[in-house]
Amino acid sequence: MKIAVCGKGGVGKTFIAGSLAGYFSSAGRPVIAIDADSSPNLAPNLGLSHEEASRIVPVAENSELIRMKTGTDYSGVMRLSFTVDDIIGRYGVPTPSGANLLVMGTVKAMGAGCACPAHSVIKALMRHLVVERDEVVILDMEAGIEHLGRGTAGHVDVLLAVTDANRKSLEIAATICRLAKGSDIRTIGLVANRVTGAQQEQAIRAFAEAHDLPVLGLVPFDQQVADAGVTGEAVDPSASGAVQAIEGLAKSLENTHAR
Ligand SMILES: Nc1ncnc2c1ncn2[C@@H]1O[C@H](COP(=O)(O)OP(=O)(O)O)[C@@H](O)[C@H]1O
Ligand SMILES: [Mg+2]
Repeated sequence: MKIAVCGKGGVGKTFIAGSLAGYFSSAGRPVIAIDADSSPNLAPNLGLSHEEASRIVPVAENSELIRMKTGTDYSGVMRLSFTVDDIIGRYGVPTPSGANLLVMGTVKAMGAGCACPAHSVIKALMRHLVVERDEVVILDMEAGIEHLGRGTAGHVDVLLAVTDANRKSLEIAATICRLAKGSDIRTIGLVANRVTGAQQEQAIRAFAEAHDLPVLGLVPFDQQVADAGVTGEAVDPSASGAVQAIEGLAKSLENTHAR
């Protein structure tokens, strides 16, 4: 199963991506967690310390790797065909969550026409991860899927548009879902996060209904998670209502996408 986690900045994409990765890993599935945000911070959500996280060199910024893949003996001439399947084993970072973490680096500026070496490697790698791998792959994305182009992210099985009750977050989530319709993605919908009570839940459900979007999950506001965001400490999954709600979401996705 391949899951893309999208949504406005700050809505909780990274927390949700990390919790999903943790759930599937503890359920015994091999998981590759991809940090595709240009300011990556998935590592702490997978249990790595700040120090361990700061040592990770993102793929797009690993000039030796990029040269090895795309370089030729002729200056200015780039190899167009190369393999990327070894990158996960070599540069994937094992994490306490059990998931293997791959940090992509800056992919934001990657327009459809961009063909520089780093972007070519990222594009090929993303395609490989989403189309060819058997692991559970979880993509923590920058805002929406448009940054990576439909070509790659359009092949995931599940698109989660994370939102809080804020109007702007809801509108961005709806736009992401609209852009993804017409792709091959089987499950597209909202995940309401940081919900503080019945009033917010109602507002989100009303918005979803008006936009004809399913609410795939409802994650409550959780003080422990908010505090962890401040201190950088790990969240205890067994004591977190938010993590449990995300596990519920993961189980329902598992049922619809059994493979
Ligand atoms: N359900 C929740 N309850 C409380 N705080 C949350 C919840 N989900 C996320 N947060 C906090 O909100 C902040 C932003 O979350 P993050 O996952 O980094 O967002 P994004 O990746 O979308 O920018 C973090 O400090 C995180 O701890
Ligand atoms: Mg994030």
